[in-house]
Amino acid sequence: MSKNAPTRLAFGKIKDTVRYRLKFAHFPYLARSLENERARRSEGMAILDVGCGPGNIAGFCDLPGDVKWFGLDLWEYQLVQAAEKRVYAGLFQVNLVDGLPFKDSSFDAVLCNEVLMYLPNAAELLGQFHQVLKANGVLFVYNPITWLPKVLAGARRRLRSLHQERRSVSWDRQTDWKNATRACRITYYSLRSLVEEVRSARFEIIDVTGFRIFRNRIRAMTRLEDYRWYYAITKSLVSRFPQLAADIMVVGRKAGPDPTKRDVLGGRSAV
Ligand SMILES: C[S@@+](CC[C@H](N)C(=O)[O-])C[C@H]1O[C@@H](n2cnc3c(N)ncnc32)[C@H](O)[C@@H]1O
Repeated sequence: MSKNAPTRLAFGKIKDTVRYRLKFAHFPYLARSLENERARRSEGMAILDVGCGPGNIAGFCDLPGDVKWFGLDLWEYQLVQAAEKRVYAGLFQVNLVDGLPFKDSSFDAVLCNEVLMYLPNAAELLGQFHQVLKANGVLFVYNPITWLPKVLAGARRRLRSLHQERRSVSWDRQTDWKNATRACRITYYSLRSLVEEVRSARFEIIDVTGFRIFRNRIRAMTRLEDYRWYYAITKSLVSRFPQLAADIMVVGRKAGPDPTKRDVLGGRSAV
């Protein structure tokens, strides 16, 4: 069975692999979408994996050799693990709070997988993703959503003012981020506010899809994810009704001439 084959509805337990865990259901989605993006282009493509962590997505996708992966992350230990995947053409230690250090129109795709929630400057960064993308470039933002973003953000702020874990970065205090080892969630979105945030950065929204109903903090729920029927029912429900989802993928495209469209003389339109 190929890596990205759809999961069939069955009642047996499934293997604990990235391929079948609901937690990673967006990985095959990304792999397929990036393959399609590659097929739209005549000369390879460059992908920026923002907050790449240990490089799980790049390691999972099996894209042709003319696809170049670039990753950035806040911490060196994450970049060391990403380098071990041997798929990145370049890895950079960058604090996204200071913005992106790349020239305009450098990438064909930008992935921002479970990163936006850690950033106080999310709106500004989405604008920078737009700038570093080439015309027709595509942005994938995967992020948790909630029905009560403002309430949760307020509660989190209050909690942090009472107690701040020493190992975790907090942007509203003077923290030495190099000595911290994890980021702290500060930005909360609803389905609508996340889509609107991406749209306000001048992206045309081309897809919004959900993957999970629960972000499994509860052990019993994590166990349930081991069952194919649960995977299949959840995935089909939330892909149709993303408002039920606990996390969504928003896909936006930067406007530009469509390279697949032929002009009146039969040639490809210039990008
Ligand atoms: C939940 S992990 C996701 C990792 C990866 N995208 C994946 O899907 O496996 C969040 C990542 O964002 C990175 N991150 C958080 N705040 C950051 C910042 N200010 N600048 C750069 N990276 C940051 C963390 O180091 C971590 O690797």
